[in-house]
Amino acid sequence: MSSLLHQRPLHNTLTNPSSLSPRSPSDFPKPSTIFNRTSLLLLLSLLVILGVFVPWIGLPQGLFTSSRVSISKWKDYTLAEAVANVAKNGTVVVCAVSQPYLPFLNNWLISIARQKHHEKVLVIAEDYATLFKVNEKWPGHAVLVPPAPDAQTAHKFGSQGFFNFTSRRPRHLLQILELGYNVMYNDVDMVWLADPFPYLQGKHDVYFTDDMAAVKPLNHSHALPPPGKKGRTYICSCMIFLRPTSGAKLVMKKWIEELQAQPWSKAKKANDQPAFNWALNKTAGQVDLYLLPQAAFPTGGLYFKNRTWVQETKGMHVIIHNNYITGFDKKIKRFHDFGLWLVDDHAHESPLGRL
Ligand SMILES: *[C@@H]1O[C@H](CO)[C@@H](O)[C@H](O)[C@H]1NC(C)=O
Ligand SMILES: *[C@@H]1O[C@H](CO)[C@@H](O)[C@H](O)[C@H]1NC(C)=O
Ligand SMILES: *[C@@H]1O[C@H](CO)[C@@H](O)[C@H](O)[C@H]1NC(C)=O
Ligand SMILES: *[C@@H]1O[C@H](CO)[C@@H](O)[C@H](O)[C@H]1NC(C)=O
Ligand SMILES: *[C@@H]1O[C@H](CO)[C@@H](O)[C@H](O)[C@H]1NC(C)=O
Repeated sequence: MSSLLHQRPLHNTLTNPSSLSPRSPSDFPKPSTIFNRTSLLLLLSLLVILGVFVPWIGLPQGLFTSSRVSISKWKDYTLAEAVANVAKNGTVVVCAVSQPYLPFLNNWLISIARQKHHEKVLVIAEDYATLFKVNEKWPGHAVLVPPAPDAQTAHKFGSQGFFNFTSRRPRHLLQILELGYNVMYNDVDMVWLADPFPYLQGKHDVYFTDDMAAVKPLNHSHALPPPGKKGRTYICSCMIFLRPTSGAKLVMKKWIEELQAQPWSKAKKANDQPAFNWALNKTAGQVDLYLLPQAAFPTGGLYFKNRTWVQETKGMHVIIHNNYITGFDKKIKRFHDFGLWLVDDHAHESPLGRL
């Protein structure tokens, strides 16, 4: 990979971190060319009266502390401000990321940039390192909703920390809906092969994908599937699109209730997906639900395991989810084996560049 490519400036001046400092040095005329002694004296006495300092005295120092300024700025950056800044056409695409998952975030972002939807991506940072890293490279595109979950435990699947981390999701999504935006949530172990937005047809409240690996006919129903073995469906909480309707808000509220009603226990090693399925089950009569087509949004349990099916549905795949596998390195290897690990060779296509 040529180092020149990823050194190319990726950001326009509007998103340049230095634009956070009130003015650039070149905006200030040289004092000697402007002021004669009289006017300088007049100006100085005026400033003394007003109790302010000549701005250029403080400027060089201001430049050196600009990164501190931006760090405190991002610490106080709210979800409402962030959504207002990144939303396009009333829509945001969100993910929730902790530091170990930054390579997956970048991989996902490259695939979204290829579909030209990256400008509406908002990263919900689960730790301060992620918040500062993303905003340093791509100002305004990360927000942290405090308190930050425990970083040590948050990424161990099945742990209590992981549960705490994922149970924040419906709250963030509900808040974005309350602000009046459409929101698409994605896990970052996903890759977009095509633009998903044309598939979000009609005016339904909630759009989702099935996590069952069994092959469905191409013309399958878009209704909530019948419950499976455990009495509930296996809808994936990994990819959800919501319109800011009372129906979608009801599902998020139910999801939060279900998470509280069935708190984490060591025996169950729960994640937030069963609670999402119970929320869908209990609100199905009141909410307009829409199951997305399997050929476009297959579970990893199908895409990575059934070559015959992948051949049969060639050209129809839109978002690929690297699930039905655990372990960081195994996920990377599998993406690599299937030509979906883009960060090594295409980091320059990401709005974050090489991390
Ligand atoms: C904006 O949103 C509306 C309604 O959701 C949609 O019909 C339209 O295609 C969108 N326009 C663009 C440019 O994405
Ligand atoms: C998970 O959240 C509960 C309740 O807020 C808290 O008591 C617990 O310490 C958290 N555990 C971890 C590992 O983050
Ligand atoms: C799908 O197509 C098959 C065969 O053409 C038909 O029998 C079936 O009713 C269709 N299913 C749906 C849900 O439209
Ligand atoms: C909800 O779950 C119950 C218990 O498994 C089941 O009988 C019912 O059919 C489900 N309802 C819907 C709409 O899926
Ligand atoms: C794999 O896909 C083929 C073609 O769709 C299907 O007939 C077969 O049942 C699938 N195999 C498994 C194990 O699901």
